Amino acid sequence: MSGLSRRRFLGLTGGAGLVLAAGLAGPRLLGRAATTGELLASEVPLPTPFRVPLPIPAVLTPVAREADADRYEIVQRTATAEILPGLRTPIWAYQGTFPGPTLESRSGRTAIVRHRNELPVPTVVHLHGGRTPPESDGYATDLVLPTSGTHQAHQHAGMLDPDAKVVQGVRDYVYPLRQRASTLWYHDHRMDFTGPAVYRGLAGFHLVRDAEEDALPLPRGERELPLMIADRAFAADGSMRYPSLDSTLATVPGVEEPYVAGVLGDVVLVNGAPWPVAEVSATRHRLRLLNASNARRYDLALDPPPPDGPAFTQIGSDQGLLDAPREHDHLPIAPAERYDMVVDFGRYPVGTEVTLVNRAGTGSTAYVMRFRVARRGIEDSDIPDRLSTIEPLNRTQARVTREFSFRGGPTGGRHGWLIGGEPYSPSRIDARPRLGDVEIWRFVADLHHPIHLHLVNFRVLSRGGRPPGPFDGGLKDTVDLRPGEAVEVIARFDGYRGRYMFHCHNAEHEDMGMMANFETT
Ligand code: C2O
Ligand code: CU
Ligand code: CU
Repeated sequence: MSGLSRRRFLGLTGGAGLVLAAGLAGPRLLGRAATTGELLASEVPLPTPFRVPLPIPAVLTPVAREADADRYEIVQRTATAEILPGLRTPIWAYQGTFPGPTLESRSGRTAIVRHRNELPVPTVVHLHGGRTPPESDGYATDLVLPTSGTHQAHQHAGMLDPDAKVVQGVRDYVYPLRQRASTLWYHDHRMDFTGPAVYRGLAGFHLVRDAEEDALPLPRGERELPLMIADRAFAADGSMRYPSLDSTLATVPGVEEPYVAGVLGDVVLVNGAPWPVAEVSATRHRLRLLNASNARRYDLALDPPPPDGPAFTQIGSDQGLLDAPREHDHLPIAPAERYDMVVDFGRYPVGTEVTLVNRAGTGSTAYVMRFRVARRGIEDSDIPDRLSTIEPLNRTQARVTREFSFRGGPTGGRHGWLIGGEPYSPSRIDARPRLGDVEIWRFVADLHHPIHLHLVNFRVLSRGGRPPGPFDGGLKDTVDLRPGEAVEVIARFDGYRGRYMFHCHNAEHEDMGMMANFETT
């Protein structure tokens, strides 16, 4: 290990990220302190912001509708996109677009999605936030091999995981969607290579709707905007810049050493467009916000703030509606989190330009997109005082309390990221909750780690030894830990029996060891 790498290594494994934070100074301090990762700059001049219209991903039409299921087909392939005006960017894409097409399902109605892998490497599809049987959950070694050719990574996964269910070319993912209305998303989840594959474009929305939510007078139609926020860096040739050790994404996982804490880009994309602009009427709009970035955390706010009242009225979290709306004047959002927010543009005069800013960013990452309040509109929406009911869960119901630490540490002779001191292995099960049991899981972090559990939704019980924070409300599947913080969540482990993953959703951490298994029995 070189002197430099040894120092960095010690920095990563030292207490609470203090060593990493030391030595940072100057204008980047705010951004650096607010997120864990290293900035990778673009090699091309950045475009003027707020020029590109906000794209809305197309809604995918089923190829067949059966009595209780909709069938879809998605081809995963390489494509070229014009992301920065005038530049051609090679992408990996569901149906050739980034983001992929949006799926829209009814709660309780099965969606069967046939994915065909025409990419040069194996893939895995995971429906994030889905309550999905294990064989369709996108376990990291359940590879779909490319339609053409054989692949080394196949042997890699097979050797590591005798239980891997590997198929050639095509897999039908079956999603029963026995869950409430929510903003889900689907993305690649291949062991060791999730970060670069998602970065190249393998992510899309899957919205679940239900009668309870439909009965509410929330903004809908054009006034409901799915917003996938993701940062990227671009190389001189227009390609996305990512510091993979193995640019073919075939065999060697991980990123170059300066980026092991996370890859941060300097271009902020919303629905695949750089700092876009959306024209809106002066009415309430529902923003389904998703942070699909690999490592970047944002702290979103409106500039100017509305003249009276809060910027955002939160109506939902990762797993759907809150019990009652909550008001916020800003919103911290970590990778993989979703927040459902209503913004009332009717509080601004027509003609106002309202910028969605990122208080956790600096320079080009200090802003996200812009809304232009272009016209009056008839207000037909309302935010009821009661939105939904959420089953209460309290400590006395929990049979078990488990504790997991999320820290930097060595894996495979390099810097990596560990859960409970261990790097990811498909063959080690770290928790065996009984199906239907309620458990408390306590997480402790060294740096920022957004922790995600597959299969279940949870409630935040405590944060830093105190009651949950203002953004912790409702049912979640991803919770952001700040440096040195401990968070307790409580969940009922029901749905399906089988092996599921839990992990940090900083995609670089995830790829470099910070993943583990639980099995519902
Ligand atoms: Cu969004 Cu295990 O993932
Ligand atoms: Cu997930
Ligand atoms: Cu992490």
